[in-house]
Amino acid sequence: MTSFDGELQALIDNMIETMYAAPGVGLAAPQVGVSRRLAVIDVSTKEEKAPLLVLINPVFLGREGEIEFEEGCLSLPDYTTMVKRAEKVAVRAVDREGRDTEIECGGLLAIALQHEIDHLDGILLVDRISPVKREFFRKRYQKARKRGK
Ligand code: CO
Repeated sequence: MTSFDGELQALIDNMIETMYAAPGVGLAAPQVGVSRRLAVIDVSTKEEKAPLLVLINPVFLGREGEIEFEEGCLSLPDYTTMVKRAEKVAVRAVDREGRDTEIECGGLLAIALQHEIDHLDGILLVDRISPVKREFFRKRYQKARKRGK
């Protein structure tokens, strides 16, 4: 059972603030050291406004098609890579007030949903790329860490 208490609301507000400050289009609770199935997403661009989504216990109802898109992640600074995802998804989740919501979408929102739900399952985008690219990433990232980045 999820309790929609002040603690949860504060965590959500914190995550939203962190996402906007980064700036990023999404953030999942495990990225801030909280192991809950909770993510926030806002895929707004300068040109197009999108809603701020708070998703608790999100599950896929359906996936369709395939698309490849260049993704980055707040947990992997200065790294982007092409990742294959479903082109359209349907997701059910609970919002911050405890209401059931269903989202059917494509485009950047569909990609962000898959990326953030991956985080809830402990999957990073480097787990979604080919072994060769992953090895390249590992070397590059270790070097960056040694430099204290
Ligand atoms: Co991420």
